[in-house]
Amino acid sequence: MLKEIHEGPKAIHETLLGRLANLEIDGFLSEGATSVKLVACGTSYHAALIGKYILEELARIPASAELASEYRYTQGPADRPLVILISQSGETADTLGAAREARRRGCRTVAITNVLGSSLTRETDITVYTRAGIEISVAGTKTFIAQVVVLYLIALKMAQDRGALGYAEIDALKDELRSLPRAAQYVLNKSTEIRALAEKYGNARDAFYIGRHAHYPVALEGALKLKEISYVHAEAYAAGELKHGPLALVTPSTPVIAIAVQDPTYEKMRSNIGEVVARGAPVLAIGTEGDKELPKAVDDVIWIPSMPWVLAPVPVSVAFQLFAYEVARMRGCPIDKPRNLAKSVTVE
Ligand code: AGP
Repeated sequence: MLKEIHEGPKAIHETLLGRLANLEIDGFLSEGATSVKLVACGTSYHAALIGKYILEELARIPASAELASEYRYTQGPADRPLVILISQSGETADTLGAAREARRRGCRTVAITNVLGSSLTRETDITVYTRAGIEISVAGTKTFIAQVVVLYLIALKMAQDRGALGYAEIDALKDELRSLPRAAQYVLNKSTEIRALAEKYGNARDAFYIGRHAHYPVALEGALKLKEISYVHAEAYAAGELKHGPLALVTPSTPVIAIAVQDPTYEKMRSNIGEVVARGAPVLAIGTEGDKELPKAVDDVIWIPSMPWVLAPVPVSVAFQLFAYEVARMRGCPIDKPRNLAKSVTVE
């Protein structure tokens, strides 16, 4: 897993290669789409949820994300969204079932997968490959990062086709995407610091992850990684939801991992952090380099470089992957093969 986390920057680079300049993405066409439905399971579902926020933000198209195991057994509305199915392996039974259901409903379907010629590619109209290289560890890491990168490409393409962003804005985001491998590497270079933080926080029985907007699914993914490989009970919440119930569980023994990077919800996040600090919870925040105020409000900070906030889910996710790895290592867990889990879930 550690090796695969460190391959994140390369996965980003390879996934962008030859696609950015003209936004030609394996024949992906956005023509005629009036809405998008993203469907997947597990970690890939978290990428789908990030995709929903990115597509709405950049391409201004209605987008929603749904778990494949739910989508396949619902009726769905009468309209026919473009359905994007995301699966690292391309063999997940529920995602394959959802692809068949989307076709039955007459929707155009797109697969995002890392495995050449996998079953999903045969059940969909178009395939866009992530180019993360083979991933062996059960916990998805570099493939998740590559899925999010493909979603940036698709969102930029749709933004261009729909005229939702001007050329200058698109060009600026392309340049920032080119820098994304460096941003991921920036976080990887902090591995000693992250190991020390894992030792400080990793003995907890329960932990909470909080985030807002596109960082809410990043929090979900951070919590899933921690659960999967370290067996620490972790839950993620959209930070605004804390006061609607979960705050009852927040105590001095429940660390809160808060995504407080510079984005439009930053001030709201700061208030949410205040809510958990008031209940005595230790707070480990993820912040944007240069933020002088954040360290005064929390116990520790993992920094990401300054960047357009829509791209920040990538370095934040890399930090969470390393953190989960270090907690699992400290607790002596079988990191690459966690109990009860398989790399590819080919049964319902
Ligand atoms: C990832 O860490 C998990 N092991 C799991 O949630 C996985 O993402 C899920 O089973 C979906 O797999 P897929 O991407 O191959 O379809």
